[in-house]
Amino acid sequence: MRAGVLTGGGDSPGINAALRSIVRFGNKHGVDVLGFEEGWKGPVENLVRPLTQVDVSGILHIGGTILSSSRTNPFRSPDGPERVVETLAVNAVDFLIAIGGDDTLGVAHRLSEYDVKAVGIPQTIDNDIAMTDYTLGFSSALGAITDALDRLHTTAASHHRVLILEVMGRDAGWLSLMGGVAGGADVILIPEQKFNVDSIFRKIKRREHLKKRFSIVIVAEGAQPEGMGGQVVEEAEVDAFGHARLGGVGQYVANQLSERMQIPVRVTNLAYLQRGGSPSPFDRILATRFGAASIEFALNGQYDVMTAIHGTQIVPVPLSEALAQARPVDEGLLYLVDLFE
Ligand code: F6P
Repeated sequence: MRAGVLTGGGDSPGINAALRSIVRFGNKHGVDVLGFEEGWKGPVENLVRPLTQVDVSGILHIGGTILSSSRTNPFRSPDGPERVVETLAVNAVDFLIAIGGDDTLGVAHRLSEYDVKAVGIPQTIDNDIAMTDYTLGFSSALGAITDALDRLHTTAASHHRVLILEVMGRDAGWLSLMGGVAGGADVILIPEQKFNVDSIFRKIKRREHLKKRFSIVIVAEGAQPEGMGGQVVEEAEVDAFGHARLGGVGQYVANQLSERMQIPVRVTNLAYLQRGGSPSPFDRILATRFGAASIEFALNGQYDVMTAIHGTQIVPVPLSEALAQARPVDEGLLYLVDLFE
């Protein structure tokens, strides 16, 4: 059998570890692997190369993706899906493994209407894909955010400042909430709850009772102030999946707070620093298990599914069900936002 694999959307640590696992486990079970380059652009334009055990040797700990990524959407061009089908036929690919977030996996699912057999691996630092406890990359990004908050604490405390850290998280606040808890942020802002600058100000003022003359605020890029008609965007132009580039909410909060505060308010946008670097041990293990499971599911004839982790078990879940729902922060975790107020 022959598998084709591609990596689409925003990269995250752990993709290479998944590619390594797909090739090694696949070869062990009689599956050879072709790599399509630059996300869905690869199958559309036949950008393909063999992925051998030599190609995937030594990449377990390296972030990013050796296949490159893009936000190409084959459904944006009239013959895109047909070109994917043709590329798979020309290269004698029996099934595809698509590694990415909801956009990348959404294409894999829609291609089932064209009889393309695909298995998805949920990968995004945002952790915003339903029906899996974790997505690949979330744990590593959380590590980077926690480290950033630890570093910001020292300057905030030394200089008596309010320091704001803007992190990713378009529609779901997993990174902001969990990062904020792990890094001890004093104010946590997430897309699931609109925020009010006066109440942020009051929270910061209350810290004076602790004799604290600094505060740390963590804000997800998708968080919205009350009364604003949408998210704060850096670029209004949308990508092939209809998303504008978010960014700037941290500066918005800083500007609003500065008018009320006596101490300096400064912003750090962690941007791509939270998406790069080496995968955490958790992500390396998850990638290895997801990679092997994607081959296993295909060999069992289970397609149009994605690998998911439920507790300690890796299970297949139908892409149609996973993609039909949003994955905001669990309601049962929202108490963490205000735990220490
Ligand atoms: O897709 C995950 C994500 O991390 C989002 O949180 C963020 O909005 C987006 O990637 C930004 O990615 P890029 O700048 O590469 O388009």
